Formats: sequence, structure tokens, C-alpha cells
Amino acid sequence: MNKPKKNKKPKSAKAKKTFAPGKQANSKKSKKLVVFYSRTGITRKVANAIAQELQAELEELVDKKSRKGIMGWLSGGRDAMKKILTELEPLEKDLSEYEIIVIGTPIWAGNMAPAARTFLSQNRGKLKKVAFFHTRGGSGLEKVEKELWQALSATAASATVAAKSLALLRREVVKDLHADKVKEFAKQLIG
Ligand SMILES: Cc1cc2nc3c(=O)[nH]c(=O)nc-3n(C[C@H](O)[C@H](O)[C@H](O)COP(=O)(O)O)c2cc1C
Repeated sequence: MNKPKKNKKPKSAKAKKTFAPGKQANSKKSKKLVVFYSRTGITRKVANAIAQELQAELEELVDKKSRKGIMGWLSGGRDAMKKILTELEPLEKDLSEYEIIVIGTPIWAGNMAPAARTFLSQNRGKLKKVAFFHTRGGSGLEKVEKELWQALSATAASATVAAKSLALLRREVVKDLHADKVKEFAKQLIG
């Protein structure tokens, strides 16, 4: 005689919730935004990689003050060092829709670029969870980290920091060696 079949639960009901980095939908509940400034495309390249990994949307900060050429380099370095704010083009996204906002900046004179500082300053209180990433030529990592934390607590005190900052060197990004670090960073944010 055949044994009576056990009333098995359908597989899907038993399935464990698995962590699938990068595969999560940008649902209303967990919408993520990558906000970044980039003068020469390095930080933009990292922003795109992070957004892809997190299934996040992107907002590029546009500095109304020209940072092109040697004059732009000089004014950028000076403004960054003196922590002078700049004027930004209006944002396209409504920040209140996003649960996590990842902010990216190149390092200028050991500081965040004025566009990133201005973004933080103008959006005081609107950020829930934040994380930073930055790219640099090579110098002053410790100063940079300290500077980011100070800027965050001065301008966005109500925000919580969702991950350790992702720090990348320009040459790593140029050679496409940033993928593993980006994945690890994303895992901290959505894992
Ligand atoms: C005005 C200026 C100042 C900079 N100061 C620093 C610095 O203090 N330390 C550093 O490591 N890199 C510095 N850099 C290099 C940039 O941080 C680096 O090239 C960065 O990856 C550029 O990113 P972007 O292409 O997104 O603009 C500076 C670049 C500029 C334009």
C-alpha cells in the first residue's frame, strides 16, 4: 500500500528570506539616493557603481560656480579649504522620499568639495540615514574622515550614519579596481 503523502507546504512559503545584494527593488519603503559632486568624472564613476549595487537613484550636484581650468582649480581648493559654501542648481529629487542618502565628493585641499558641503548645509534635518564616499588623489585620509564627521554633525545632526565611509583613490577608480570595495560598502547599507 502506498504511504499517504505528507501535506507539504509549498516551497515558496518555507523559503528563507535571503540577502541578495543589489537585487532589492527601490521600493517606496527603502528608496535610496546617491547624491554626488564630480569635477572630472571619478566620483561620478563610483556614484554610478554604488547606485547600480543599491538599485538607487542618482542626483548629481551642479556647482553654479565654474570649477573648470586652473582658475576653477584654484577657487575650488581655496573655497574647500576655507569651508566656503557655493550655489547649487536646484535638486531634481525630493529628499524626503529616500530612506538612505549616500553622499559622494572628491577631496579638495583635505576637505569635501564646496558643492557637497553646501548640499549638507542646505538639507539640515532632511536626511534620515546617510553614508559617505569620497575619492582623492592620495593625501590626507585621516584629515578627510575627521572633516566629514565634523561636517555631518554640524549640518545634519539628526541623521544616522548607515555605514563606514568608502574611501577610494583616483588611480583605483581609473583602473577599475573599485568594484569589491563598492560591493562591501553596499552590503553594509542593505545587508
Ligand atoms: C582643487 C582640488 C584640490 C584637491 N585636493 C586634494 C587633496 O587635498 N588630497 C587629495 O588626495 N586629492 C586632492 N585632489 C584630487 C581629487 O580629490 C581627485 O582627483 C578626485 O578623485 C577627483 O574626483 P572627480 O573626478 O570626481 O572630480 C584635489 C583636486 C582638486 C581639483
